[in-house]
Amino acid sequence: MSHLPLILIALTLTLTNLIDVSARQIPQSPLSVNKEDDHPKVPIVLGVMSKCPDAFLCESIFDQVLKRVGPKVDLELTFVAKLNSSAEGGITCLHGPSECSGNIHELCAVKHTSRDKWWPFVQCLNYEGYQKIGSVDTAKRCAKASGIDWDESGVGECIEGSEEEGRELLVKSIARTQSLNITKSCSIFIGGELRCVRDGKWVDCEEGHTANDFVRIINREYEKLDPLY
Ligand SMILES: *[C@@H]1O[C@H](CO)[C@@H](O)[C@H](O)[C@H]1NC(C)=O
Ligand SMILES: *[C@@H]1O[C@H](CO)[C@@H](O)[C@H](O)[C@H]1NC(C)=O
Repeated sequence: MSHLPLILIALTLTLTNLIDVSARQIPQSPLSVNKEDDHPKVPIVLGVMSKCPDAFLCESIFDQVLKRVGPKVDLELTFVAKLNSSAEGGITCLHGPSECSGNIHELCAVKHTSRDKWWPFVQCLNYEGYQKIGSVDTAKRCAKASGIDWDESGVGECIEGSEEEGRELLVKSIARTQSLNITKSCSIFIGGELRCVRDGKWVDCEEGHTANDFVRIINREYEKLDPLY
């Protein structure tokens, strides 16, 4: 009889452990994976130019960020350039006409592929470097390296075809950039707010400018989007 309290304690401890274990397993259940898919994502906008060293830097930092919190974000690139009726093609890009081409190459990849393809494509262009961005050969090489089917995806037609599609994408992107009041590449918006600008040096980065800092902001904004989750 005197052992009964001990047995009860042992039983309670065992049950507590069981409950603990099942609670820890919840994040792996299929139900919870679906929930994560439904969770609203944090919008990120990078205001960039395809041949801008500041954009290369931002995009290499965001490559680290995406590796850590990629599924939590919607990523958008928007391009800094100017409509100009006296320029060839009606658009002026700061680093010359080849930058306008590079912008169009990236926009074509974004339009015709998913982020798991177009983001590596952009990284590849940056790695090829300033001199090579904007050439069709470079775009083809990077498409191949990123698993983009040049002909089947529509990217090839967008880049090498009538020019009208690519030009329209860039004109729309310029309007989007202006609607956000973006004038500098690289401008970083997270959750609808300008968080940081890289313009030769870091400017207005109240919460920091490292991958760690951006991951922290994204995680916080992600929780805010759906506090009941
Ligand atoms: C418009 O394009 C012309 C011709 O390329 C160029 O000389 C001029 O500087 C451009 N204007 C602006 C505001 O970029
Ligand atoms: C852009 O700037 C204009 C003028 O400074 C301002 O009225 C407008 O609210 C700004 N828009 C955004 C999206 O910040």
